[in-house]
Amino acid sequence: MTRTIVVHSHRGGTGKSSVLANLALLIAAGGRRVGVVDTDIQSPTLDLLFRLGPGPSLADYLLGRCEIEAAAQPAGVPGLYVVPARTGTAALRELMSGGYDVGLLPEGFDRLAEHYALDVLLLDTHAGLNNESVTAMASADVLVIMARADRIDLSGVEETIALAGRLACRRTLVLSMAPAGIDRDAARRRSEEVYGAPVAGILPYSPEMASLHGERIFAEAHPDHPLVGEFRTIISALDARDEVSRA
Ligand SMILES: Nc1ncnc2c1ncn2[C@@H]1O[C@H](COP(=O)(O)OP(=O)(O)OP(=O)(O)O)[C@@H](O)[C@H]1O
Ligand SMILES: [Mg+2]
Repeated sequence: MTRTIVVHSHRGGTGKSSVLANLALLIAAGGRRVGVVDTDIQSPTLDLLFRLGPGPSLADYLLGRCEIEAAAQPAGVPGLYVVPARTGTAALRELMSGGYDVGLLPEGFDRLAEHYALDVLLLDTHAGLNNESVTAMASADVLVIMARADRIDLSGVEETIALAGRLACRRTLVLSMAPAGIDRDAARRRSEEVYGAPVAGILPYSPEMASLHGERIFAEAHPDHPLVGEFRTIISALDARDEVSRA
């Protein structure tokens, strides 16, 4: 049975794609079969992070030009397959002007999971709410809500938690880019009290991550860095199903 994990945030730039790429790599390196779909058609990232070659994409699948499994590329480590969102802007223009059948998304996720016998399917999303992000959330077994600990990000968490409640998916929080010296226990307690969702991880702001400029996946470049330990903590929390509360 494939477990679908969706990473989302209300505002952009919280670190969704970076975290997702690291989780995917580490989970696959641990021996599980992992699929990744970049549903962020507006501002794709994973093709660059995983250094994918040219080929069909999620957008081509949505436009009826290929099967979704043909758009998946092996990446990084054995057992990891990544579907890029799009290449170039032509497909985006077509999708924006002509629309598409949103039902193709969940159908495609299921097909990918079956075709590649995936243990885990990770879906990256555009920030905020749009067709792709809400449809991805509706497919989630676990929704990972990322937020920096500031008022605007956190007000978005409330909205996303409410939506997750309506979608009845399990949800967990990851606080990102935490400043040095943050009281981690207090931040965790406060978030859990206010949002009623467990905190799977608190990721410090890392100058090493920022200075990678997205050119490599952090866990590849700095396998012994404490931030990679935090990614592993998140994976353990996601695996411990009971710790991820149902909305
Ligand atoms: N813990 C961190 N410390 C410092 N920089 C980080 C950290 N996590 C991510 N970054 C950097 O922040 C930038 C934004 O990260 P990323 O693209 O992963 O965010 P995102 O939430 O996917 O953005 P978007 O909403 O645009 O899709 C990148 O340059 C990335 O390298
Ligand atoms: Mg992103």
